[in-house]
Amino acid sequence: MVQNIFAGKKIVIGVSGSIAAFKVAGWVSDLAKEEARVSVVMTSSAAEFVTPLTFAALSGNDVHTGMFGQGKEDPMTHISLGRDVDLVVIAPATANIIAKLASGIADDLLTTMVLATRAKVLVCPAMNNRMYSHPATQKNLKILKELGYDIIDPACGMMACKEEGEGRLAEWDGVKELLAHSLSPQDLRGVKILVTAGPTREPLDPARFLSNRSSGKMGYALAQAACRRGAQVLLISGPSFLTCPRGVTLVKVQTAREMYDAVLAHAADSTVIIKAAAVADYRPETVYEHKVKKENIAKELILERNPDILLELGKRKKVGQVLVGFAAESTNLLAEGKRKLLSKNLDLIAVNDISGDTTGFETESNQILLISASGAETLPHTTKLHSADLLLDRVRQLVGEKP
Ligand SMILES: Cc1cc2nc3c(=O)[nH]c(=O)nc-3n(C[C@H](O)[C@H](O)[C@H](O)COP(=O)(O)O)c2cc1C
Repeated sequence: MVQNIFAGKKIVIGVSGSIAAFKVAGWVSDLAKEEARVSVVMTSSAAEFVTPLTFAALSGNDVHTGMFGQGKEDPMTHISLGRDVDLVVIAPATANIIAKLASGIADDLLTTMVLATRAKVLVCPAMNNRMYSHPATQKNLKILKELGYDIIDPACGMMACKEEGEGRLAEWDGVKELLAHSLSPQDLRGVKILVTAGPTREPLDPARFLSNRSSGKMGYALAQAACRRGAQVLLISGPSFLTCPRGVTLVKVQTAREMYDAVLAHAADSTVIIKAAAVADYRPETVYEHKVKKENIAKELILERNPDILLELGKRKKVGQVLVGFAAESTNLLAEGKRKLLSKNLDLIAVNDISGDTTGFETESNQILLISASGAETLPHTTKLHSADLLLDRVRQLVGEKP
C-alpha cells in the first residue's frame, strides 16, 4: 500500500546558517520516510550548526556544500541540482540568504542553484524577531514574493536567544501540508466542495447518547485531499477527535438534525457535495434534561426517525451539482449501492465494506466500491487519503461532464 503525494518526488532542501537548522534534520528524515527523493544543499554557515553527515544519513543521499571541485563527478551541480526537481525548500532561511535571493546574488552553491532552477521555491525564514521585523528583511521578503517565491511565515514564540516574538521557524506539520499542496495537481482549483464527516450523537440525557463507530477519518481525508488540489472546502463534522486539515473551513455539529440544518444551509452554494458522515437514522423520542437514574430507565427506548439528508439533497440537486453519497454495508454491497444511487438521485456512491478489519469504520485504510450511472468499480485497498484522491479523480471527471 503506497501512494502518497511525496513518494518519488524530487525535493531539494537548502539549509542556511540558522540555529534552527537542527529542526530541518527532522523534516528531511520525515520526507525520506515518505519516500521523497531528498537532496540537501548547505551553506558553509549551516555546516557550523549541523554536520553534512547528519543530512546525508537522514536523506540517504550525498549532501552538497561547495560549488567548486570537492572531487565530485559532476562539476555543474549548481545547475544540475535544481533541474527537473519538483520543489525547492529553503529551510531555515537566514536573513542573509533572503537578502541574497532578493537581489539575485549567486556567490555559493545554494543561491546559484536557486537562480538556475525553474521549480517552485518555498522559503521558510527563521531568525531573531528584531532581525525578522527589520525593514531590510521585510523589504527583501516582499521582493521575494513579487519574484514568485512562496514564503512560509515564521511562528511566534520563544527563540533560542531567549527573546520572544515572530521569527521562529514554522512548525513542520503546517509546512508539510503546504509542501503537499505545492506538489498536488491544482485540478479542483476554486471548486466549492462540501464534505460531511464523522458520526452524529443523539442525546438521551446529559450523560448518554446514541451514536455509531464512525471516526471521521474518511471525510477528513476527503477534505484534506480536495483542499490540497485547490478546492474551497467546507467540512461539516459530527464529533471527532481529528484536527481540521489546514485550509479547510470547519463547522462542528452534534446531532443529525444539526447536521441537516448546516448541510442544507450551505448546499445550494456548493458545486460538489460529498456525504461521508455516518448520520444516525433514529434519535430517542424523549431527551431528558437531567441524568436519568439507572433504576428509572425504561427498558424499551422509543425512537424517532431523523431526516434523510442525502435524500433531501438529491431532491434539491441543482443543475451542474455533483452529489456523492457514502454507504456502509456488510452484505450485498453492489445491490445496496445501486439502490441508493437511484433512490437518492446521486451521481456517485462510495460503498464501504464494514465487515472487514481494514476497511470502513475507524481504520486507516479503505477499499471503496464506487458506483455511478456508468458502472461499478472496486478501487484498490489503500490509505484513506489515497482513497480520497481516487474518489476525487472521479468527482473531477463528473464536474467536467456536467452542463
Ligand atoms: C549561534 C548563531 C545563531 C544564528 N542564528 C541565526 C538565525 O536563526 N537566523 C539568521 O538569519 N541568522 C542567524 N545567525 C547568523 C548567520 O549564521 C549569519 O548571518 C551567516 O552569515 C548566515 O550565512 P548563510 O545565510 O550563508 O547561511 C546565527 C549566528 C550564530 C553565531
